[in-house]
Amino acid sequence: MTRPDDLQVLFDAAETAVAQSPRGSVAAKAAAARVFDRLRSHDGTPQFQAMAPAALPVCDHLPQAIASAYPVRRALTTALSALAARLTWTRRLSARPEDGAFWDGHANVMLAGPAGLEVRDDLWLGATLMAPGVTYTDHSHPPEETYLPLTPGAWWNAAMDWTDPGADGLIYNPPGITHAMRALPDQPFLALWFLPV
Ligand SMILES: [Fe+2]
Repeated sequence: MTRPDDLQVLFDAAETAVAQSPRGSVAAKAAAARVFDRLRSHDGTPQFQAMAPAALPVCDHLPQAIASAYPVRRALTTALSALAARLTWTRRLSARPEDGAFWDGHANVMLAGPAGLEVRDDLWLGATLMAPGVTYTDHSHPPEETYLPLTPGAWWNAAMDWTDPGADGLIYNPPGITHAMRALPDQPFLALWFLPV
């Protein structure tokens, strides 16, 4: 199969953005590189017809998140915007309607992975969007993870204080570590994540 051009454009922009993150750690870049190497080694199955696009309440914040994204990472936000109409946003499985701020204030989309636009089982690549002031619940997963911020925000893990890596930084979460993110009070949060599985 052939990967759709607009998805390849996003993957290429993401790889460039990681490479152009001088403050990103060696570990963060290495984990992301494992994802990009796998994307290069073979294409997955495109699911553009099979998956219905879906929006959630937090998606109302997507235009502002994209408008306020770091200029240095604009190629990436432009690529994400080009895919916006086909994205299937979902809530974290553990989210509950009783926690209205989180329920209506966050969403994830998988671009490549088991539930991705491109279906494959060797990596997870996606994005998280949050409304201003929302904190993403503590979580952990076996794969290591690199976050690429598209907007300001804050990241935490059990070995690191709350940190905003900025427009030229990355966040690295070692395998299995408990971690979280939060949006600034006055600005939506948008970040990409890369997990070699
Ligand atoms: Fe994570």
